[in-house]
Amino acid sequence: GKYRVVSTKPMPGTRWINLLTAQDCRVEICTEKKTILSVEDILALIGDKCDGVIGQLTEDWGEVLFAALKRAGGTAFSNMAVGYNNVDVSAANKYGVAVGNTPGVLTETTAELAAALSLAAARRIVEADQFMRAGLYDGWLPHLFVGNLLKGQTVGVIGAGRIGSAYARMMVEGFKMNLIYYDLYQATRLEKFVTAYGQFLKANGEQPVTWKRAATMVDVLREADLISLHPVLDKTTYHLINKDSLAIMKKEAILVNASRGPVIDEAALVEHLKANPMFRVGLDVFEDEPYMKPGLAELKNAVVVPHIASASKWTREGMATLAALNVLGKIKGFPIWSDPNQVVVFLEEKSAPPL
Ligand code: GLV
Ligand code: GLV
Repeated sequence: GKYRVVSTKPMPGTRWINLLTAQDCRVEICTEKKTILSVEDILALIGDKCDGVIGQLTEDWGEVLFAALKRAGGTAFSNMAVGYNNVDVSAANKYGVAVGNTPGVLTETTAELAAALSLAAARRIVEADQFMRAGLYDGWLPHLFVGNLLKGQTVGVIGAGRIGSAYARMMVEGFKMNLIYYDLYQATRLEKFVTAYGQFLKANGEQPVTWKRAATMVDVLREADLISLHPVLDKTTYHLINKDSLAIMKKEAILVNASRGPVIDEAALVEHLKANPMFRVGLDVFEDEPYMKPGLAELKNAVVVPHIASASKWTREGMATLAALNVLGKIKGFPIWSDPNQVVVFLEEKSAPPL
């Protein structure tokens, strides 16, 4: 291969490797056993000659690494993730390195996990599972693991981009929930969907569903029975959910986060969960991954999973493929890369490759 492309982790499938090797690239995959690579580890991987890197959301892609990549002749970096809060894009641009992410292919998979957490929290699935396995079930009782009915309640979505909108559709259509959402942008297609579905229900003699675009996030916090967070993580969304915002939410509300951990002040959340046993939470992400804040693991009203929202085979293979295409596209000068100052949204949802 004429070009050297490094992947900091083995990634699912072989398509991504085949794409690169078919186009003059030698692919080197780091097989280091430790889960999270340090900046020093990655510097060693980049070495003296490296044209492009596929990296992971657990890595700190800043000034040091992009300077090293430039020195090694590199021009391309892709995160194998849609979120790129771990990447200093302006540092990358300063060193002439283009940055890509992998949107689209994980939209439905991530939304489905947020839906799974919603149901697990609403119906206390994990608590009930632990109860069964502990041999505590000694007969049906009218009050055993009573949870929340979603139908007719209001789902609140904070951040109605691709993932937030897909989640909203699932909850509205699947469980006949009303929608309230907050986003800087109007989610026109989502609004049209809920309107049409409401008309369909009405025509069938059922209670129609409704939607509302909230003027402020506070309206969502106040009105929703189930809230799912889907913003990007940046300065404006850091600790978006804190002591004050939790205090506004209903005492029996459910909060779901499959975006980024620091969107929630996790210590404040632990206190809130302790003080409000009927308040429940489903978390895929944590403020200091891989750690949980003290106390969270002991709380029965929390369902916790280890950042697996995009973890379906189809999606993970798709993410690897997009990351490879991002790097290849820059190295080979595909026209998509004409603006190096942009994080490239390489493929839109609809054109995601069937794998
Ligand atoms: C996963 O967390 C991603 O951003 O793709
Ligand atoms: C990610 O794909 C998003 O914009 O929600």
